[in-house]
Amino acid sequence: MKGIILAGGKGTRLYPATLSISKQLLPVFDKPMIYYPLTTLMLGGIREVLVISTPRDLPMFRELLGSGEDFGISIDYAEQPEPNGLAEAFIIGERFIDGGPAALILGDNIYYGAGLGEKCRAGVRSAQGGGACIFAYQVEDPERYGVVTFDPATGTATSIEEKPAAPRSNWAVTGLYYYDEQVSEIARTLKPSPRGELEITDLNMAYLERGALTIERLGRGFAWLDTGTHESLQDAGAFIRTIEHRTGIKIACPEEVALDLGYIDASLVRQRARGLGRTGYADYLDRLASSVA
Ligand code: TTP
Repeated sequence: MKGIILAGGKGTRLYPATLSISKQLLPVFDKPMIYYPLTTLMLGGIREVLVISTPRDLPMFRELLGSGEDFGISIDYAEQPEPNGLAEAFIIGERFIDGGPAALILGDNIYYGAGLGEKCRAGVRSAQGGGACIFAYQVEDPERYGVVTFDPATGTATSIEEKPAAPRSNWAVTGLYYYDEQVSEIARTLKPSPRGELEITDLNMAYLERGALTIERLGRGFAWLDTGTHESLQDAGAFIRTIEHRTGIKIACPEEVALDLGYIDASLVRQRARGLGRTGYADYLDRLASSVA
């Protein structure tokens, strides 16, 4: 399956930090924000990735990630001139998707937890079997998100509402979505919402109405963080720092994921380390390479 990282937007809530640079290039503790969604896609087994960003920022993503060969994957790039909504990713990415199923992850979403890879692979399998698979997470402020309700008996989704004033549950739809091969066709039928965006909630509603929407709940064992405000960005950095310092294991290190999955070998990891100067990240890569050599 192919995957899209949507890394455009204006990042207005982070002004002035994002007046001249994409939010998704800012660091979350020790690595660029986009490493987190990139590794989440990779954990699901996705090796063909499209990065969508603004015409201003796309060259910097290209400089950072290149062709993807350092991570044993292929990365393509496409422009979203204006932030016309999340569902536009499937129109911009239609040629890349090429009539197959596709995943979408938001460039500012961070996932962490034991079993995340399996959840992602389940999403891939579900969409390959037909329909859509999305994830819900309990939050304190559901009114900021798409909100889902479930049938208490069967656990199947009964409604989704975008940013409801009076949320009917505290289950928010997160920024990771897996769709079958109809996704671009359905995205093309969507009309802009009152705020002028092609809404991902409308795409999900279309699948819900066809009885083809699976919603996986991410329970207590998972962290889903977004990084759209100064506070949440700082919180995410502190969270990553805490876990990494305690365990000595990095979260969202694409070289490590690629090595584990057998996409690259130890010599490439060492070569990467040499290009990263005298940093903790480079030392970490060296240790990884030695552990498998
Ligand atoms: P938002 O947080 O809704 O938008 P933003 O990042 O521009 O931030 P702000 O509200 O502060 O102005 O977007 C969620 C993610 O999706 C984020 O990673 C940016 C991305 N995005 C796009 O790439 N294109 C779009 O059209 C939209 C709406 C968002």
